[in-house]
Amino acid sequence: MSAITNTELLQRRYNVMGKSSPLFYEKPLHLVRGEGVWLYDNDGRKYLDVYNNVPHVGHCNPRVVEALYKQASTLNIHTRYLHDNIVEYIERLTTTFDDGLSMAMLTCTGSEANELALRMARFYTGNQGIIVTDFAYHGNTEAVAELGTGFMPEAKHTKRVKSFSIPDSYRGISGVAESDLADAYAAQVQQAIDEFEAEGINVAGMLVCPDFANEGLLTVPKGFLEKAVAMVRKAGGVMIADEVQAGFGRSGAHFWAHQWYDLTPDIVTMGKPMGNGHPLAGVIARADMIEAFSKEAMYFNTFGGTPVSCAVGMAVLDALQEDRLMENAVSTGAYVTAGLRKLQDKYPLIGDVRDLGMFFGVELVTDRATKVPAIIESRRIINLMRERGVLISTIGVTDSILKLRPPMPFQPEHADLLIATLDDVLEIVSREMAG
Ligand SMILES: Cc1ncc(COP(=O)(O)O)c(C=O)c1O
Repeated sequence: MSAITNTELLQRRYNVMGKSSPLFYEKPLHLVRGEGVWLYDNDGRKYLDVYNNVPHVGHCNPRVVEALYKQASTLNIHTRYLHDNIVEYIERLTTTFDDGLSMAMLTCTGSEANELALRMARFYTGNQGIIVTDFAYHGNTEAVAELGTGFMPEAKHTKRVKSFSIPDSYRGISGVAESDLADAYAAQVQQAIDEFEAEGINVAGMLVCPDFANEGLLTVPKGFLEKAVAMVRKAGGVMIADEVQAGFGRSGAHFWAHQWYDLTPDIVTMGKPMGNGHPLAGVIARADMIEAFSKEAMYFNTFGGTPVSCAVGMAVLDALQEDRLMENAVSTGAYVTAGLRKLQDKYPLIGDVRDLGMFFGVELVTDRATKVPAIIESRRIINLMRERGVLISTIGVTDSILKLRPPMPFQPEHADLLIATLDDVLEIVSREMAG
Protein backbone atom coordinates (compact mmCIF):
# COMPACT_ATOMS: atom_id res chain seq x y z
CA MET A 1 0.00 0.00 0.00
CA SER A 2 1.42 3.36 -1.05
CA ALA A 3 1.50 6.16 1.57
CA ILE A 4 0.38 8.72 -1.00
CA THR A 5 -3.17 8.72 -2.43
CA ASN A 6 -3.71 8.45 -6.18
CA THR A 7 -5.31 11.91 -6.21
CA GLU A 8 -2.21 13.42 -4.62
CA LEU A 9 0.12 11.61 -7.01
CA LEU A 10 -2.00 12.68 -9.98
CA GLN A 11 -1.85 16.32 -8.88
CA ARG A 12 1.92 16.14 -8.45
CA ARG A 13 2.18 14.57 -11.90
CA TYR A 14 0.08 17.38 -13.41
CA ASN A 15 2.36 19.92 -11.70
CA VAL A 16 5.53 18.54 -13.24
CA MET A 17 4.33 16.78 -16.43
CA GLY A 18 1.26 18.82 -17.41
CA LYS A 19 -2.33 17.66 -17.82
CA SER A 20 -1.83 16.53 -21.42
CA SER A 21 0.79 13.87 -20.70
CA PRO A 22 -1.26 10.80 -21.70
CA LEU A 23 -2.69 8.45 -19.07
CA PHE A 24 -4.93 5.45 -19.61
CA TYR A 25 -8.46 5.24 -18.15
CA GLU A 26 -10.82 7.71 -16.51
CA LYS A 27 -9.45 6.50 -13.18
CA PRO A 28 -5.71 6.22 -13.88
CA LEU A 29 -4.01 3.09 -12.61
CA HIS A 30 -1.18 3.30 -10.10
CA LEU A 31 0.84 0.18 -10.78
CA VAL A 32 3.56 -1.09 -8.49
CA ARG A 33 4.39 -4.63 -9.66
CA GLY A 34 4.14 -7.00 -12.59
CA GLU A 35 4.50 -10.75 -13.04
CA GLY A 36 3.80 -12.75 -16.21
CA VAL A 37 0.45 -11.51 -17.54
CA TRP A 38 -0.52 -9.84 -14.26
CA LEU A 39 -0.15 -6.30 -12.97
CA TYR A 40 -0.70 -5.17 -9.37
CA ASP A 41 -1.78 -1.72 -8.19
CA ASN A 42 -0.85 0.17 -5.04
CA ASP A 43 -3.80 -1.37 -3.18
CA GLY A 44 -2.59 -4.88 -4.00
CA ARG A 45 -5.34 -5.38 -6.60
CA LYS A 46 -4.51 -7.71 -9.47
CA TYR A 47 -5.20 -6.91 -13.15
CA LEU A 48 -5.04 -9.18 -16.17
CA ASP A 49 -2.85 -7.42 -18.74
CA VAL A 50 -4.43 -7.83 -22.17
CA TYR A 51 -2.78 -4.74 -23.58
CA ASN A 52 0.98 -4.56 -23.15
CA ASN A 53 3.29 -5.97 -25.80
CA VAL A 54 6.53 -4.52 -24.44
CA PRO A 55 6.71 -7.12 -21.61
CA HIS A 56 6.65 -9.57 -24.52
CA VAL A 57 7.76 -12.71 -22.69
CA GLY A 58 5.91 -11.66 -19.53
CA HIS A 59 6.30 -8.90 -16.96
CA CYS A 60 9.59 -9.25 -15.07
CA ASN A 61 10.39 -12.51 -16.84
CA PRO A 62 12.96 -14.15 -14.50
CA ARG A 63 15.19 -15.28 -17.40
CA VAL A 64 15.40 -11.69 -18.69
CA VAL A 65 15.91 -10.17 -15.23
CA GLU A 66 18.69 -12.67 -14.50
CA ALA A 67 20.46 -11.96 -17.83
CA LEU A 68 20.25 -8.23 -17.21
CA TYR A 69 21.55 -8.52 -13.65
CA LYS A 70 24.38 -10.86 -14.62
CA GLN A 71 25.68 -8.69 -17.48
CA ALA A 72 25.12 -5.41 -15.60
CA SER A 73 27.27 -6.76 -12.77
CA THR A 74 30.04 -7.73 -15.22
CA LEU A 75 30.40 -5.02 -17.86
CA ASN A 76 28.30 -2.39 -19.58
CA ILE A 77 30.00 -0.29 -22.23
CA HIS A 78 29.18 1.24 -25.62
CA THR A 79 29.76 -0.57 -28.88
CA ARG A 80 33.15 0.85 -29.92
CA TYR A 81 34.93 -2.09 -28.31
CA LEU A 82 34.76 -5.71 -29.35
CA HIS A 83 32.22 -7.69 -27.35
CA ASP A 84 30.67 -11.14 -27.96
CA ASN A 85 27.14 -10.13 -27.04
CA ILE A 86 26.38 -7.71 -29.87
CA VAL A 87 27.83 -10.01 -32.52
CA GLU A 88 26.11 -13.09 -31.16
CA TYR A 89 22.80 -11.24 -30.77
CA ILE A 90 22.77 -9.87 -34.31
CA GLU A 91 23.83 -13.26 -35.68
CA ARG A 92 20.85 -14.85 -33.94
CA LEU A 93 18.44 -12.08 -34.88
CA THR A 94 19.30 -12.15 -38.57
CA THR A 95 18.49 -15.88 -38.77
CA THR A 96 14.83 -14.93 -38.25
CA PHE A 97 14.82 -12.91 -41.50
CA ASP A 98 14.66 -13.82 -45.16
CA ASP A 99 17.99 -14.13 -46.95
CA GLY A 100 19.50 -10.77 -47.77
CA LEU A 101 18.45 -9.04 -44.56
CA SER A 102 21.72 -9.88 -42.90
CA MET A 103 23.06 -6.79 -41.13
CA ALA A 104 21.83 -4.65 -38.26
CA MET A 105 22.35 -1.35 -36.47
CA LEU A 106 21.06 -1.14 -32.92
CA THR A 107 19.27 1.80 -31.31
CA CYS A 108 17.34 2.42 -28.09
CA THR A 109 13.85 3.25 -29.41
CA GLY A 110 11.58 2.50 -32.33
CA SER A 111 11.59 6.18 -33.25
CA GLU A 112 15.37 6.19 -33.57
CA ALA A 113 15.17 3.01 -35.64
CA ASN A 114 12.66 4.61 -38.02
CA GLU A 115 14.73 7.80 -38.16
CA LEU A 116 17.76 5.75 -39.15
CA ALA A 117 15.73 3.82 -41.72
CA LEU A 118 14.59 7.11 -43.29
CA ARG A 119 18.15 8.39 -43.46
CA MET A 120 19.30 5.12 -45.01
CA ALA A 121 16.48 5.02 -47.59
CA ARG A 122 17.03 8.67 -48.57
CA PHE A 123 20.80 8.22 -48.74
CA TYR A 124 20.59 5.02 -50.77
CA THR A 125 17.98 6.20 -53.29
CA GLY A 126 18.98 9.85 -53.49
CA ASN A 127 15.25 10.66 -53.21
CA GLN A 128 13.29 12.30 -50.39
CA GLY A 129 9.63 11.21 -50.60
CA ILE A 130 8.15 8.72 -48.14
CA ILE A 131 4.73 7.10 -48.50
CA VAL A 132 2.71 6.08 -45.42
CA THR A 133 -0.96 5.46 -44.57
CA ASP A 134 -3.23 8.37 -43.75
CA PHE A 135 -3.47 7.25 -40.12
CA ALA A 136 0.15 6.45 -39.36
CA TYR A 137 2.25 6.63 -36.21
CA HIS A 138 5.90 5.65 -36.40
CA GLY A 139 7.45 7.56 -33.51
CA ASN A 140 8.39 10.94 -32.19
CA THR A 141 11.63 12.39 -33.59
CA GLU A 142 11.23 15.36 -35.92
CA ALA A 143 11.69 13.44 -39.18
CA VAL A 144 9.56 10.54 -37.94
CA ALA A 145 6.83 12.92 -36.71
CA GLU A 146 6.46 13.96 -40.36
CA LEU A 147 5.17 10.42 -40.97
CA GLY A 148 2.58 10.69 -38.20
CA THR A 149 -0.44 11.45 -40.37
CA GLY A 150 -2.81 10.27 -37.64
CA PHE A 151 -1.27 12.14 -34.75
CA MET A 152 1.42 14.73 -35.48
CA PRO A 153 1.30 18.40 -36.54
CA GLU A 154 4.57 18.00 -38.50
CA ALA A 155 2.79 15.60 -40.89
CA LYS A 156 0.43 18.37 -42.00
CA HIS A 157 3.17 20.67 -43.26
CA THR A 158 5.86 18.43 -44.70
CA LYS A 159 6.38 18.08 -48.44
CA ARG A 160 8.43 14.89 -47.96
CA VAL A 161 5.53 12.64 -46.97
CA LYS A 162 2.39 11.56 -48.83
CA SER A 163 -0.27 9.12 -47.72
CA PHE A 164 -2.80 6.64 -49.02
CA SER A 165 -6.07 5.58 -47.33
CA ILE A 166 -5.72 2.86 -44.71
CA PRO A 167 -6.14 -0.44 -46.64
CA ASP A 168 -9.20 -1.64 -44.77
CA SER A 169 -11.21 -4.57 -46.15
CA TYR A 170 -13.92 -4.09 -43.49
CA ARG A 171 -14.78 -0.50 -44.40
CA GLY A 172 -13.41 -0.44 -47.95
CA ILE A 173 -13.80 2.50 -50.33
CA SER A 174 -17.27 3.77 -51.17
CA GLY A 175 -18.31 2.61 -54.65
CA VAL A 176 -15.43 0.11 -55.02
CA ALA A 177 -16.21 -3.63 -55.11
CA GLU A 178 -14.36 -5.79 -52.57
CA SER A 179 -12.53 -7.61 -55.38
CA ASP A 180 -11.17 -4.28 -56.67
CA LEU A 181 -10.01 -2.89 -53.33
CA ALA A 182 -6.36 -3.99 -53.63
CA ASP A 183 -6.05 -2.19 -56.98
CA ALA A 184 -7.88 0.89 -55.70
CA TYR A 185 -5.56 1.30 -52.70
CA ALA A 186 -2.51 0.56 -54.87
CA ALA A 187 -3.66 3.27 -57.31
CA GLN A 188 -3.43 5.74 -54.42
CA VAL A 189 0.18 4.68 -53.82
CA GLN A 190 0.90 5.21 -57.53
CA GLN A 191 -0.71 8.64 -57.31
CA ALA A 192 1.60 9.57 -54.41
CA ILE A 193 4.61 8.41 -56.46
CA ASP A 194 3.45 10.46 -59.46
CA GLU A 195 2.91 13.56 -57.32
CA PHE A 196 6.37 13.23 -55.77
CA GLU A 197 7.88 12.97 -59.26
CA ALA A 198 5.93 15.98 -60.50
CA GLU A 199 7.25 17.96 -57.53
CA GLY A 200 10.85 16.85 -58.18
CA ILE A 201 11.02 15.09 -54.80
CA ASN A 202 10.85 11.46 -56.02
CA VAL A 203 10.07 8.48 -53.86
CA ALA A 204 12.67 7.17 -51.41
CA GLY A 205 10.39 4.55 -49.93
CA MET A 206 7.17 3.31 -48.50
CA LEU A 207 7.10 2.81 -44.72
CA VAL A 208 4.27 0.76 -43.22
CA CYS A 209 3.59 -1.40 -40.20
CA PRO A 210 2.84 -4.75 -41.87
CA ASP A 211 -0.11 -5.57 -39.60
CA PHE A 212 -1.36 -1.96 -39.72
CA ALA A 213 -1.65 -2.06 -35.95
CA ASN A 214 -2.23 1.60 -35.10
CA GLU A 215 -4.59 1.85 -38.06
CA GLY A 216 -6.79 -0.83 -36.44
CA LEU A 217 -5.08 -4.19 -37.04
CA LEU A 218 -6.58 -4.15 -40.52
CA THR A 219 -7.51 -7.02 -42.78
CA VAL A 220 -5.50 -5.89 -45.79
CA PRO A 221 -7.00 -6.58 -49.26
CA LYS A 222 -5.10 -9.53 -50.66
CA GLY A 223 -2.32 -8.54 -53.01
CA PHE A 224 -2.38 -4.83 -52.11
CA LEU A 225 0.96 -4.59 -50.33
CA GLU A 226 2.84 -6.65 -52.93
CA LYS A 227 1.46 -4.42 -55.71
CA ALA A 228 2.26 -1.22 -53.85
CA VAL A 229 5.82 -2.32 -53.07
CA ALA A 230 6.41 -3.23 -56.74
CA MET A 231 5.25 0.27 -57.75
CA VAL A 232 7.53 1.94 -55.20
CA ARG A 233 10.53 -0.13 -56.29
CA LYS A 234 9.85 0.56 -59.97
CA ALA A 235 9.99 4.28 -59.15
CA GLY A 236 13.36 3.85 -57.42
CA GLY A 237 12.17 3.62 -53.79
CA VAL A 238 12.61 0.96 -51.12
CA MET A 239 10.25 -0.89 -48.78
CA ILE A 240 10.59 -0.24 -45.05
CA ALA A 241 8.63 -2.55 -42.75
CA ASP A 242 8.04 -1.02 -39.31
CA GLU A 243 7.92 -4.12 -37.09
CA VAL A 244 8.25 -2.07 -33.89
CA GLN A 245 4.81 -3.21 -32.76
CA ALA A 246 4.16 -6.21 -34.95
CA GLY A 247 7.35 -8.22 -34.66
CA PHE A 248 9.08 -10.86 -32.54
CA GLY A 249 6.64 -13.69 -33.12
CA ARG A 250 3.47 -11.92 -32.02
CA SER A 251 1.76 -12.88 -35.26
CA GLY A 252 2.24 -16.55 -34.39
CA ALA A 253 3.10 -18.54 -37.50
CA HIS A 254 5.78 -16.05 -38.56
CA PHE A 255 8.46 -14.28 -36.56
CA TRP A 256 7.84 -11.06 -38.50
CA ALA A 257 4.47 -9.76 -39.66
CA HIS A 258 5.84 -8.88 -43.13
CA GLN A 259 6.46 -12.60 -43.65
CA TRP A 260 2.70 -13.06 -44.07
CA TYR A 261 3.08 -11.30 -47.43
CA ASP A 262 4.81 -12.40 -50.58
CA LEU A 263 7.63 -9.87 -50.30
CA THR A 264 10.93 -9.15 -48.58
CA PRO A 265 11.44 -5.59 -47.33
CA ASP A 266 14.70 -3.74 -47.94
CA ILE A 267 14.76 -2.35 -44.39
CA VAL A 268 13.01 -3.54 -41.23
CA THR A 269 12.76 -1.54 -38.01
CA MET A 270 12.05 -3.07 -34.61
CA GLY A 271 11.80 -2.17 -30.95
CA LYS A 272 9.17 -2.43 -28.21
CA PRO A 273 9.14 -6.21 -27.38
CA MET A 274 12.80 -6.62 -28.32
CA GLY A 275 14.13 -5.92 -24.79
CA ASN A 276 11.00 -6.85 -22.77
CA GLY A 277 10.98 -3.30 -21.36
CA HIS A 278 14.70 -2.60 -21.57
CA PRO A 279 15.31 0.08 -24.26
CA LEU A 280 16.50 -2.00 -27.17
CA ALA A 281 15.57 -1.36 -30.81
CA GLY A 282 17.20 -1.46 -34.21
CA VAL A 283 17.29 -1.62 -37.98
CA ILE A 284 17.91 -4.70 -40.09
CA ALA A 285 18.62 -4.07 -43.75
CA ARG A 286 20.18 -5.40 -46.87
CA ALA A 287 23.93 -5.65 -46.36
CA ASP A 288 24.69 -3.43 -49.37
CA MET A 289 22.47 -0.67 -47.95
CA ILE A 290 24.05 -0.77 -44.49
CA GLU A 291 27.57 -0.92 -45.94
CA ALA A 292 26.95 2.00 -48.31
CA PHE A 293 25.26 4.13 -45.64
CA SER A 294 27.75 3.53 -42.86
CA LYS A 295 30.71 4.19 -45.15
CA GLU A 296 29.50 7.77 -45.61
CA ALA A 297 27.56 8.45 -42.42
CA MET A 298 29.23 7.33 -39.22
CA TYR A 299 26.49 5.89 -37.02
CA PHE A 300 27.08 5.60 -33.31
CA ASN A 301 24.45 5.36 -30.57
CA THR A 302 25.82 5.59 -27.02
CA PHE A 303 23.27 3.25 -25.45
CA GLY A 304 22.28 1.22 -28.52
CA GLY A 305 23.40 -2.40 -28.38
CA THR A 306 25.41 -2.40 -25.16
CA PRO A 307 26.46 -5.78 -23.71
CA VAL A 308 23.57 -5.49 -21.22
CA SER A 309 21.02 -4.67 -23.92
CA CYS A 310 22.19 -7.55 -26.06
CA ALA A 311 22.17 -9.98 -23.11
CA VAL A 312 18.57 -8.93 -22.50
CA GLY A 313 17.73 -9.30 -26.20
CA MET A 314 19.16 -12.82 -26.22
CA ALA A 315 17.19 -13.76 -23.10
CA VAL A 316 14.00 -12.61 -24.88
CA LEU A 317 14.86 -14.83 -27.87
CA ASP A 318 15.60 -17.74 -25.46
CA ALA A 319 12.27 -17.28 -23.69
CA LEU A 320 10.36 -17.13 -26.98
CA GLN A 321 12.01 -20.34 -28.12
CA GLU A 322 12.17 -22.36 -24.92
CA ASP A 323 8.67 -21.46 -23.72
CA ARG A 324 7.29 -22.06 -27.25
CA LEU A 325 5.56 -18.70 -27.21
CA MET A 326 4.99 -18.50 -30.96
CA GLU A 327 3.17 -21.84 -30.85
CA ASN A 328 1.20 -20.45 -27.93
CA ALA A 329 0.33 -17.36 -29.99
CA VAL A 330 -1.15 -19.68 -32.63
CA SER A 331 -3.12 -21.95 -30.28
CA THR A 332 -4.18 -19.54 -27.54
CA GLY A 333 -4.65 -16.87 -30.20
CA ALA A 334 -7.18 -19.08 -32.01
CA TYR A 335 -8.88 -19.78 -28.68
CA VAL A 336 -9.26 -16.06 -27.94
CA THR A 337 -10.59 -15.40 -31.45
CA ALA A 338 -13.18 -18.18 -31.09
CA GLY A 339 -14.35 -16.56 -27.84
CA LEU A 340 -14.53 -13.12 -29.46
CA ARG A 341 -16.52 -14.50 -32.39
CA LYS A 342 -19.05 -16.01 -29.97
CA LEU A 343 -19.44 -12.56 -28.44
CA GLN A 344 -19.88 -11.14 -31.95
CA ASP A 345 -22.78 -13.60 -32.48
CA LYS A 346 -24.36 -12.37 -29.27
CA TYR A 347 -23.79 -8.59 -29.47
CA PRO A 348 -24.62 -6.50 -32.59
CA LEU A 349 -22.20 -3.89 -31.19
CA ILE A 350 -19.31 -6.03 -32.49
CA GLY A 351 -19.01 -5.28 -36.20
CA ASP A 352 -15.78 -7.14 -36.90
CA VAL A 353 -13.27 -9.38 -35.13
CA ARG A 354 -9.71 -9.41 -36.48
CA ASP A 355 -6.73 -11.36 -35.26
CA LEU A 356 -3.11 -12.06 -36.01
CA GLY A 357 -1.57 -14.54 -33.57
CA MET A 358 -1.65 -12.93 -30.12
CA PHE A 359 -3.13 -9.63 -31.33
CA PHE A 360 -6.84 -8.92 -31.66
CA GLY A 361 -8.94 -6.01 -32.90
CA VAL A 362 -12.66 -5.86 -32.10
CA GLU A 363 -14.32 -3.15 -34.16
CA LEU A 364 -17.40 -1.73 -32.46
CA VAL A 365 -20.25 -0.15 -34.42
CA THR A 366 -23.60 1.25 -33.34
CA ASP A 367 -25.16 -0.20 -36.50
CA ARG A 368 -23.72 -3.13 -38.43
CA ALA A 369 -25.28 -2.02 -41.72
CA THR A 370 -23.96 1.55 -41.68
CA LYS A 371 -20.85 0.73 -39.62
CA VAL A 372 -21.11 3.90 -37.54
CA PRO A 373 -18.15 3.76 -35.11
CA ALA A 374 -19.22 3.14 -31.49
CA ILE A 375 -16.86 5.73 -30.04
CA ILE A 376 -18.54 6.47 -26.70
CA GLU A 377 -19.32 2.80 -26.13
CA SER A 378 -15.67 1.80 -26.77
CA ARG A 379 -14.44 4.25 -24.15
CA ARG A 380 -17.07 3.02 -21.70
CA ILE A 381 -16.07 -0.60 -22.31
CA ILE A 382 -12.37 -0.13 -21.63
CA ASN A 383 -13.15 1.71 -18.40
CA LEU A 384 -15.65 -0.93 -17.24
CA MET A 385 -13.11 -3.65 -18.07
CA ARG A 386 -10.49 -1.82 -16.01
CA GLU A 387 -12.91 -1.60 -13.07
CA ARG A 388 -13.38 -5.38 -13.34
CA GLY A 389 -9.62 -6.04 -13.42
CA VAL A 390 -8.94 -6.58 -17.14
CA LEU A 391 -6.78 -4.07 -19.01
CA ILE A 392 -7.44 -3.36 -22.68
CA SER A 393 -7.41 -0.23 -24.84
CA THR A 394 -8.61 1.13 -28.18
CA ILE A 395 -7.07 1.85 -31.59
CA GLY A 396 -8.11 3.07 -35.00
CA VAL A 397 -9.10 6.32 -36.65
CA THR A 398 -11.98 6.92 -34.23
CA ASP A 399 -10.63 4.89 -31.30
CA SER A 400 -13.55 2.51 -31.64
CA ILE A 401 -11.62 -0.73 -32.09
CA LEU A 402 -10.80 -2.65 -28.93
CA LYS A 403 -7.10 -3.42 -28.87
CA LEU A 404 -6.21 -6.72 -27.21
CA ARG A 405 -2.49 -7.48 -27.29
CA PRO A 406 -1.40 -9.35 -24.17
CA PRO A 407 2.08 -10.53 -23.21
CA MET A 408 2.89 -13.71 -25.15
CA PRO A 409 2.58 -16.17 -22.19
CA PHE A 410 -1.20 -15.50 -22.19
CA GLN A 411 -2.98 -18.85 -21.64
CA PRO A 412 -6.51 -20.21 -22.32
CA GLU A 413 -7.40 -19.72 -18.63
CA HIS A 414 -6.59 -16.01 -19.03
CA ALA A 415 -8.62 -15.94 -22.24
CA ASP A 416 -11.61 -17.37 -20.32
CA LEU A 417 -11.40 -14.52 -17.81
CA LEU A 418 -11.04 -11.96 -20.62
CA ILE A 419 -14.04 -13.28 -22.57
CA ALA A 420 -16.27 -13.68 -19.48
CA THR A 421 -15.48 -10.12 -18.35
CA LEU A 422 -16.00 -8.70 -21.82
CA ASP A 423 -19.31 -10.59 -22.03
CA ASP A 424 -20.50 -8.93 -18.78
CA VAL A 425 -19.37 -5.51 -19.91
CA LEU A 426 -20.91 -5.83 -23.39
CA GLU A 427 -24.17 -6.90 -21.73
CA ILE A 428 -24.15 -3.70 -19.61
CA VAL A 429 -23.24 -1.40 -22.49
CA SER A 430 -25.75 -3.01 -24.88
CA ARG A 431 -28.47 -2.56 -22.23
CA GLU A 432 -27.49 1.09 -21.79
CA MET A 433 -27.66 1.60 -25.57
CA ALA A 434 -31.14 0.03 -25.72
CA GLY A 435 -32.43 2.07 -22.78
C1 LIG B 1 4.40 1.11 -35.29
C2 LIG B 1 5.27 1.92 -34.37
N1 LIG B 1 6.46 2.36 -34.81
C3 LIG B 1 7.28 3.08 -34.03
C4 LIG B 1 6.93 3.43 -32.75
C5 LIG B 1 7.88 4.27 -31.91
O1 LIG B 1 8.55 3.51 -30.99
P1 LIG B 1 9.20 4.19 -29.68
O2 LIG B 1 8.10 4.67 -28.80
O3 LIG B 1 10.04 3.10 -29.08
O4 LIG B 1 10.06 5.32 -30.16
C6 LIG B 1 5.70 2.99 -32.24
C7 LIG B 1 5.31 3.32 -30.85
O5 LIG B 1 4.18 3.28 -30.45
C8 LIG B 1 4.84 2.23 -33.08
O6 LIG B 1 3.65 1.80 -32.65
